[in-house]
Order: sequence, then structure tokens, then C-alpha cells
Amino acid sequence: MEQVIQPEITPMPRIGDKAPEFKAVTTQGEIDFPKQYKGSWVILFSHPADFTPVCTSEFMTFASMSKEFKDYNCELVGLSVDGLYSHIAWLRTIKEKIEYKGMKDVEVKFPLIEDITMEVAKKYGMIQPGESNTKAVRAVFFIDPKGIIRTILYYPLSCGRNFDELLRTLIALQTADEFSIATPADWRPGDEVIVPTAGSCGVAKERMEDKKNMKCYDWFFCTKKLTKTEIESKIKNRKK
Ligand code: BEZ
Repeated sequence: MEQVIQPEITPMPRIGDKAPEFKAVTTQGEIDFPKQYKGSWVILFSHPADFTPVCTSEFMTFASMSKEFKDYNCELVGLSVDGLYSHIAWLRTIKEKIEYKGMKDVEVKFPLIEDITMEVAKKYGMIQPGESNTKAVRAVFFIDPKGIIRTILYYPLSCGRNFDELLRTLIALQTADEFSIATPADWRPGDEVIVPTAGSCGVAKERMEDKKNMKCYDWFFCTKKLTKTEIESKIKNRKK
């Protein structure tokens, strides 16, 4: 009987999983991921190819916002299946030649992984053959200080990401952890937040104490105020 060889299928990482480990060469030297980021949040993201326009606009935007992510204890790590010399040449071109939407002289200081073997991209489900066999899709993994994947976003090749949304998501994750709340649709720091649903005595007691602050739309849907200042005082510029 003819033997059918099945392609090797790596399971896609999921929210709540430990971030798959790898060592890689980057534009900032070798990295041991996620081990060396223990204690920090990290956004690992992929782009389809160096020297392409959407990716260039994304890198310029992300690099320009890197201080804002750092303020929330978050490091950035990029990846594409290009080689190191392509990465270096592309980042140099961005810095020396490209002026876009008021951004110029943009230096990408975060590491960009070379992954010509696609080993890392495959581990993270960044190669999605229905979209491309030869390029990573635009994937974004938010990984917490314990190395756990907390959010995953995927975009196709044609669609540049919204970096305000990435920052908003990072702040929402940290706010939920810090204040034991959830964040409603389109939430931004300073908007009301959702208090945990009833069901435990602890929650009920906390609700009684917090009643003045709360607004209930129905028994299952209560919110409370949480100011931007309160949030920032807890999670912004926090020492590791
Ligand atoms: C871009 O970044 O412009 C791009 C990359 C791959 C396919 C299509 C667009």
C-alpha cells in the first residue's frame, strides 16, 4: 500500500499557553525567548517582508511609539522570514531616507528576528498558507511577565495594524490584572470599567462597599469609575 506522508503540523499557540521558546539571531544580537523577557511584557509581532510599503509604515509607527510601550513595561520584538542583512539594510533605509506622516529619522531600536528557516514563524502560527506560503502574516502576540500569551491578533498582508489599538489592548490587559475588572467595548483609560459578575461572597461584599461608585444596567452588567490617574499611578512607569 502507498504510504501517505502527512505534512508536519505544529499546533497554533493559544491565549493562556506558555509562549513557545526559541533562540534567534536579531538586529540587536541573539535572543533567548521568552526567557530573557521574564518580568516584562513583550509584544512579539511578525511582518510579511522587508522593503515593502505597509510594513515600512508599520515599523515607523511602532518605533515612534516604542517609548509609550516601554512606559508600560513592554518590549517589542519583530520577526520576518527575511535574513539579517536584509533587515539591517531595510532599517537603515527607513532611518536615512523615509519621511512619512511627520515621522523621519526613525531608528528601530527593538530587535528584529531573522527567520529564513521559518522555524519561529511556524511555531507561532505566523505562516498561514491560505494567505501566503512564503511570508508571515501580520501576527501580534502579547506575552505577560510570566511568559504567558495573553492576546493574539492576526491581520492579512494587505492590512496595516492600528498601533493605538495595540497600546490600548496592553493597557486594558494590565488594568484588568491590577484592578480585577474587565473593560467594555471601545474602552479607553478613564472610561467606566466592568466589575466582576456576582457569584462569590467576596464580589458581593466588595460590591456593597463600592456601591456608591457603581452603576448597574441589569443584575449581570455593572460598571464603576476608574480614573486614568488611578490606572497610571499603578501600572505606568512601574519598576520591575
Ligand atoms: C506590504 O507590506 O506592503 C506588503 C507586504 C506583503 C504583501 C503585500 C503588501
